[in-house]
Amino acid sequence: MDRLHLTRRALLRGSASVALAAHLPPTVVAAENKEFHLVAAPAKAALVGAGDPETAVWAYNAAVPGPEIRIRQDGRLRVTVENRLAEDTTVHHHGIRLPNAMDGVPHLTQKPIAPGETFVYEFDVPDAGTYWYHPHHNSAHQVGRGLSGPLIIEERDPIQVDRDVVWVLSDWRLLPDAQISDDFRNMHDMAHNGRVGNTVTINGRVPDAFEVRSGERIRLRLINAANARIFGLTFSGHTPMVIAYDGQPVEPHQPAQNRIVLGTAMRIDLILDATGKPGERFQVIDNFYRGLEYRLVDLVYADAVLRPNRLDAPIALAANTMPEPSLSSAERHEVTFNGGMMGQMMMRDRGGMGGTMNMMEMMHTGKIWFINGVAMLGHVMEPMLTLKRGRSYVLAMSNETAWWHPMHLHGHAFRVISRNGAPTKLSEWQDTVLMAPREKVEVAFVADNPGDWMFHCHILEHQESGMMGVIRVA
Ligand code: C2O
Ligand code: CU
Repeated sequence: MDRLHLTRRALLRGSASVALAAHLPPTVVAAENKEFHLVAAPAKAALVGAGDPETAVWAYNAAVPGPEIRIRQDGRLRVTVENRLAEDTTVHHHGIRLPNAMDGVPHLTQKPIAPGETFVYEFDVPDAGTYWYHPHHNSAHQVGRGLSGPLIIEERDPIQVDRDVVWVLSDWRLLPDAQISDDFRNMHDMAHNGRVGNTVTINGRVPDAFEVRSGERIRLRLINAANARIFGLTFSGHTPMVIAYDGQPVEPHQPAQNRIVLGTAMRIDLILDATGKPGERFQVIDNFYRGLEYRLVDLVYADAVLRPNRLDAPIALAANTMPEPSLSSAERHEVTFNGGMMGQMMMRDRGGMGGTMNMMEMMHTGKIWFINGVAMLGHVMEPMLTLKRGRSYVLAMSNETAWWHPMHLHGHAFRVISRNGAPTKLSEWQDTVLMAPREKVEVAFVADNPGDWMFHCHILEHQESGMMGVIRVA
């Protein structure tokens, strides 16, 4: 989307408009209300491109990814979801700080939407940023077959860029005939790094080239909608600046090693200044998994130059509306993750039964991952923590497994305040924090949104084999 046009307010600042301004009604911009209709149903998608067979998918409005939901900050969103699948579903608007009843968690916050039924989600959008939506029922299956879509909330005062581009990154496990392998939720995926597929798409297509113009400034919104794949992207020849994590503004900075690491469900907004010359071509490489490096797409320079020099305009975004946690008075809770292969498969179930699990037990019970000793299967259980509304909390999380876990809390955003005991430089706000094997991460937030909120790993195969809990804000 082109963002070069002047805003109404900017126009009114111009001298020619001053005389006129007196006669205009007060410039209160009415909150924007927007309505969307999503139909979840089987469909066909040309993921791998022309000449290859289409893939049978499950999709919103027959599109992969689903239609972009875009609304201005402070607006009110109404999303009607019609279920034409053969099984129950729900929609979770990931990262939005909405009322609990609109959170889309089956049995916990709503009755699942049965086949043929419709459910209306309606809520205000307090914070600008890049978000997404996806089912929260049978998620590994439903997301893995194609159900997800982008949700963009525009700033009141957007920064100036030439193009606002969304890349929904998805990962598919395709068979040679381009159909989705139906080995969902197998023991191997669940106990290792999840269902990492073999085909990555950008906005539902295996990409080849992304055209840019010399001098162009692009706001690139990356959304990781994969079940399990984590991305580590390098834009060769370029130095993109990170301006937001999970939709939340952060001090603009170049990421470590100039590599953008995006765990599942995470979003990163980049400012990509196209500093190459007409006709040049640069690779975007994903090298997150050792030995599995591949070229995601090429940046290809058009013949025309847009501007000779880098655009000279600020790129920092205005802060969102989260309350600031008080670190001095915050109550601290330890949260430990165990399980998976090559980890210590510790189980300390409710009954106080202790001990180590073996593969046989995991297969028998489906319990592979544990939060504070408990493996949660299904969405309803006693809360692992009950927090007081309005209080500040620190969750001191330890990943005692051999695997990466992107940990997501519903209904809130938190500041990532330390990693392995060292304070983070930027105290970034996130709703999903990627933890490396054996890493310790502390997050801080104010528990200001009442309700029962899911707290889980967003590798969907981990989530569905125990790595999930409920945090109650009362
Ligand atoms: Cu993206 Cu519990 O969700
Ligand atoms: Cu995990």
